[in-house]
Amino acid sequence: MTPPRAGGDRRGSGRRTSMRTTFFPRDPGAAGPDAGLAAHSRTAARYAVLLARSLGIDGQRLLRDIERGALLHDVGKAAVPRAILFKNGPLTEFERDVVREHPLVGYRMLAGFGGLTRASEIVLCHHERWDGRGYPFGLAGETIPLGARIFALADTLDAMTTDRAYRGARPFEEAVEEIGGLAGLQFDPTVVGVFLSIPAAVWRWAGAGARVILAAPTVH
Ligand SMILES: [Fe+2]
Repeated sequence: MTPPRAGGDRRGSGRRTSMRTTFFPRDPGAAGPDAGLAAHSRTAARYAVLLARSLGIDGQRLLRDIERGALLHDVGKAAVPRAILFKNGPLTEFERDVVREHPLVGYRMLAGFGGLTRASEIVLCHHERWDGRGYPFGLAGETIPLGARIFALADTLDAMTTDRAYRGARPFEEAVEEIGGLAGLQFDPTVVGVFLSIPAAVWRWAGAGARVILAAPTVH
């Protein structure tokens, strides 16, 4: 993926075209590990919207912003060297620090696009933790934007239940149990409570590709 120019193209339809083709391509054309990242973003986005709607969020604009933020959450990884991003084996401390830059890098990449203000907060804060032990800022509790608190759980759910290069997918029930145990630690306890109230069959339905929100994302 080619990062957008700093500040983006601010001129009318040119800007809209740039946003569509850069961030929401119809055919990403990705293969290998890139395809895995793209599939993860789409599934995690469906989970995030299901969770948001179950929390009572029904404003279409807010739901769309959550979906956009989820789809873009790891856009900053485009700046991480592939040798680190797709390394087979444990990362060194330096390599881990490089990867941990991606929320801030992604936020800066989106800074020129006015329509992505709320989505960019999700990009910036998706690795923050409820207990303040996350990054990049160590924000805690409700100082973390709600969309990021919702997405953090959706991101983890898909990561746990999907095959990765370094481990196989874990059973859904096992993921549910572990996430339940992280209420008040990694995740907002209210978000976890709503997550646990949704039947596993509904999560599988969303994970299998059911759209739980809007038509294809549009950019205004
Ligand atoms: Fe991330």
